[in-house]
Amino acid sequence: MNSGLDISPFGENRTILKQKRLQKKRERFIPDNNFIKENKINLDITYILNSTDDRPFISIDELDEISPVVVEKHNQLRHGEGDCKDGEITMLGWQSLPDEITAGHLDDITSAARKLANSVDVFVSLGIGGSYLGIEATFKALTHTFFNQLSREQRGDAPEIYFLGQSTDPDFFRDSLDMLEGKRVAINVISKSGTTTETAVAFRILRDLIEKWAGSQSTEFIFVTTDKVRGALKKLTDKKEYKTFVVPDDVGGRFSVLTDVGLVGLAVAGIDIHEFAAGFRNMKKRVSSDDFWANPAMIHAAVRHLAYKKGKKIEVVATNSTAIYHLGRWMEQLFPESEGHNGYGMWVSPSMYPEKLHANGQMVQNGERNIMETFLRLLSHDNSLKIPGDPENLDGLNYLAGGDMSFINRMAIDGPAYAHFQGGVPNMIIDISRRNAFNIGQFYYMMEKSVALSGYLAGHNPFVQPGVEAYKKAIFAMTSKPGSEKYNKAITETINRLNRTVI
Ligand code: PA5
Repeated sequence: MNSGLDISPFGENRTILKQKRLQKKRERFIPDNNFIKENKINLDITYILNSTDDRPFISIDELDEISPVVVEKHNQLRHGEGDCKDGEITMLGWQSLPDEITAGHLDDITSAARKLANSVDVFVSLGIGGSYLGIEATFKALTHTFFNQLSREQRGDAPEIYFLGQSTDPDFFRDSLDMLEGKRVAINVISKSGTTTETAVAFRILRDLIEKWAGSQSTEFIFVTTDKVRGALKKLTDKKEYKTFVVPDDVGGRFSVLTDVGLVGLAVAGIDIHEFAAGFRNMKKRVSSDDFWANPAMIHAAVRHLAYKKGKKIEVVATNSTAIYHLGRWMEQLFPESEGHNGYGMWVSPSMYPEKLHANGQMVQNGERNIMETFLRLLSHDNSLKIPGDPENLDGLNYLAGGDMSFINRMAIDGPAYAHFQGGVPNMIIDISRRNAFNIGQFYYMMEKSVALSGYLAGHNPFVQPGVEAYKKAIFAMTSKPGSEKYNKAITETINRLNRTVI
């Protein structure tokens, strides 16, 4: 009784075993054919092409009809044509990255990250939007849910990992600082523009703390990832001589997880970035095909485009994995920031099933028919949990005894996929065989290609985000940033003219 709960009959947590194994791994990851076959990402559109009343939501004919347009947009992207510039720069660098990134570069990042990881207790990644989400989503998708509460050994000798700079909530920030108290802390501040307020404020606070703790050695604990020439962050970095990583000009924030933006933090967390890059490379080959029916990114983009035209304005991205849920959060950024232009765009709502089935599930089944679903279905979990038998069977659950929890979890996708399809909500299922860096890399590249096609199909540039820039400028003006006096005055005048009503 005194020693507390004994969970040893469940065996060692395999996510922890994976983390420990990664620490020892030294040879470069090279996938063989078997591995590639076992880790294929599948796109199932059965519940799109069928319906319960014999009128498919989208027919094969409709997809055949749109396919030449999709292929044409695809070719434009591959040849650097179409509406893809931000200013003078063609923002298509992400397309060729998987082939351009060298094993030597990945080795360099891994060894710099290992060196840093060995010298600290905590690593904090600072950034927002594309300078944040890909790293956190990948980290969460691949590691233990309570990573920071594990021992260092259980984490695979990685430091604790935190994310700041995406929130301006002082309570959250202060609570996070409590986690850093008395520890050796390193940071990587990531901002392509180098001026984003949220990240800059977080950096100033942490830089100050690190300088007070580490004094003249503080440059060993501060990494900066920013533009190679522009921005306030670049100026400061040059002056202070921090170790710098570069955000390539031709890769936008939300497409940048395979650049140093994502790779440094992931390598510090012990994730195999060679495997991650191999996943991107593998999917790149697959979605470079001009054959519409062999290219999951083209089909994914075409289905979403046609669904939108048929009134589906909300995409619920639901999953049965707490880890994979964060890929839905990544999609929530990638798609709306790229698609939300000129009155166009689907609202992406990441959802954890079955939890959300007991809330929004009612709306999906019986509410307004403006929803489609995309399921991210994890096929094989790291761990298995047997459901125990009970001779009394008072809860009537013995029919599941001896079975594995992952069976019920599979039904948390298969059940709603069927029920919602019957209720008039079409859905696609993206199958992810298991949680590994290769699969996450594959998934990201497929989605990047799909969202680029989506923008082209809708007739706008998916690589700019004037809407996001608009709020950034309003914050500059309203916080009286030097240089924004005129805009500040205009805002004040407009607000003063409004008929103010506070009840
Ligand atoms: O995808 C994007 O471009 C944005 O989400 C940016 O990444 C985000 O606004 C952060 O910008 P920055 O890296 O300039 O601080």
